[in-house]
Amino acid sequence: MKACLIFGGLLVLGTAIVLGIGVSDVAAYAEYAQGCHNCHGGFRTNNYSSLADGQAWGGSMHSSHQDWLGGDCDGCHSGSGKSPVILDVSDGGSGLAAISCLGCHGRDEGGAGVTGAGLRQHHWSNFITSCGNTGCHADDSNPSVFTVVGEHVLPPYYANPGTGHPDIPDHPCNLLSQGYPEDVAAAALSGLDNDGDGVYDTGDLDCAGVVPIETSTWGGIKAMFD
Ligand code: HEC
Ligand code: HEC
Ligand code: HEC
Repeated sequence: MKACLIFGGLLVLGTAIVLGIGVSDVAAYAEYAQGCHNCHGGFRTNNYSSLADGQAWGGSMHSSHQDWLGGDCDGCHSGSGKSPVILDVSDGGSGLAAISCLGCHGRDEGGAGVTGAGLRQHHWSNFITSCGNTGCHADDSNPSVFTVVGEHVLPPYYANPGTGHPDIPDHPCNLLSQGYPEDVAAAALSGLDNDGDGVYDTGDLDCAGVVPIETSTWGGIKAMFD
């Protein structure tokens, strides 16, 4: 299973190299459609399958994400139109910080503020190094250069879900007792590896103080050798 995932990553790496030598992958990804779509496809394209665990979402990323945000478009969108979608700027919706994707895919890294360093390091761990190698995020994409906060640290929207968003995940360790999980049934079963070390949720030792470690999972076994 893991071998398949790594193989998938290498396949994408091949694409990344081609793009890197070309044009598009060198650009900064201020917007979803400025690079993320090269690998993840259109956000509104139907029948998305997770690049992380292969799980079919049964619809588009857009529809699942809309559900999690309770249909509050301005969680991600800004201005009068619906395009472009900027990764770290939105109108904020009802009581949410106006930080778009960073609300769930970013965390407060202390002096660096709220950044997507954990997500960049997840890509780096899976051999997708373009965020750092093109120079834009050379300071935090490589785990050996920058240490991110642990898996257990809540992304801003989890910590402050505003009003009318009951389905925003409420814990990065996927703590079911907290209410709404991070590994949403309609999406990838794995949830998010928020700190980018390749180990998910309760398999991550950072979650040990919060929930028991699942030593039977690959994540738990790997964590013991990290
Ligand atoms: C070069 C290809 C590539 C590009 C460009 C890319 N991704 Fe990914 N992304 C992947 C692959 C492959 C995975 C799955 C890695 C794994 O877990 O095996 C992934 C995983 C993810 C995940 C899931 C992380 C997790 O914790 O499971 C998110 C969220 C994500 N990408 C968002 C983005 C965003 C946002 C952008 C643009 C800023 C982006 N990606 C650009 C290939 C890419
Ligand atoms: C989780 C973030 C998120 C939420 C919430 C969200 N969207 Fe989007 N939306 C996106 C992304 C990302 C795109 C793709 C933008 C791109 O590819 O340029 C998009 C694209 C669109 C587009 C196509 C725009 C174009 O001209 O191509 C429309 C229309 C749209 N969204 C409507 C909505 C509506 C209506 C809502 C609320 C009911 C909503 N969205 C909620 C992220 C979101
Ligand atoms: C309300 C929180 C939230 C917001 C805001 C959010 N995401 Fe996500 N996103 C998630 C969760 C949770 C998952 C993983 C779901 C799962 O695994 O079940 C996810 C998964 C993804 C994936 C799929 C990774 C894979 O497995 O292949 C991509 C790509 C992604 N998000 C991009 C974005 C982009 C781009 C934005 C902003 C336009 C955004 N997200 C905003 C919570 C959010």
